Amino acid sequence: MRTFHPRRAALGAAREDALARLWPVLGFSVHDDAHGPMPLDVDGRLDTATLFGRSAPLVLEIGSGMGETTAAMAADDPDRDYLAVEAHLPGLANLLGLVEQAGLTNVRVAHGDALELARHRVRPDSLDAVHVFFPDPWPKARHHKRRIVQPEHVALLRSRLRPGGTLHCATDWEEYAHAMLDVLTADPELENPAGGFAPRPAHRPVTKFEQRGLDLGHTVHDVVVRRR
Ligand SMILES: C[S@@+](CC[C@H](N)C(=O)[O-])C[C@H]1O[C@@H](n2cnc3c(N)ncnc32)[C@H](O)[C@@H]1O
Repeated sequence: MRTFHPRRAALGAAREDALARLWPVLGFSVHDDAHGPMPLDVDGRLDTATLFGRSAPLVLEIGSGMGETTAAMAADDPDRDYLAVEAHLPGLANLLGLVEQAGLTNVRVAHGDALELARHRVRPDSLDAVHVFFPDPWPKARHHKRRIVQPEHVALLRSRLRPGGTLHCATDWEEYAHAMLDVLTADPELENPAGGFAPRPAHRPVTKFEQRGLDLGHTVHDVVVRRR
């Protein structure tokens, strides 16, 4: 089941401008080389040293939305590189604008399906961290198979982490939070240092998706697990 469904949306002048100037330098397409080729190494894997112009621990952010979290965390964490993958192009354009405003050099963006990128292009044992913040909750039981956090996808993402690397998920959807905890706890190659839900990390800013949940009276849960 594909979790990725490309959508077209009007960008607006500022985002068109950010895309036109910054995409050729900072962006690539997961699916279509014509829209920005991704640098590959001899094995056909993402060449992160070429992408970032240095070798540093890499954080993969899945579904970065409007990019507020990516920009804030990357600004606070200059020794790691951040790759934001998002299906919604206007969100990436917004992030590019934030990156430029803040003068960040450790953020790159990819348009498309993060799971496809992870499966085919991300080298096993390579990532320092994977972030999945407020993924679409798909609340109906018959849609649960579209969720990003489910055993098959977790096994894939875990295999891309280096030993000791972390997978950090957050949601304001109570039932999904418990499902996340169950799935992440059930994977024998992951350990959960907090033993349950993790305290909210101060470095994760409140995004509009999170605020919407809080306004509805939802509780936000974080789960942070580590590859053994
Ligand atoms: C509810 S939003 C949350 C955005 C952001 N993480 C935040 O906290 O504000 C979920 C985002 O995940 C993106 N998304 C869903 N499945 C994806 C996939 N397989 N690959 C990349 N992005 C995906 C959607 O386009 C959407 O922008």
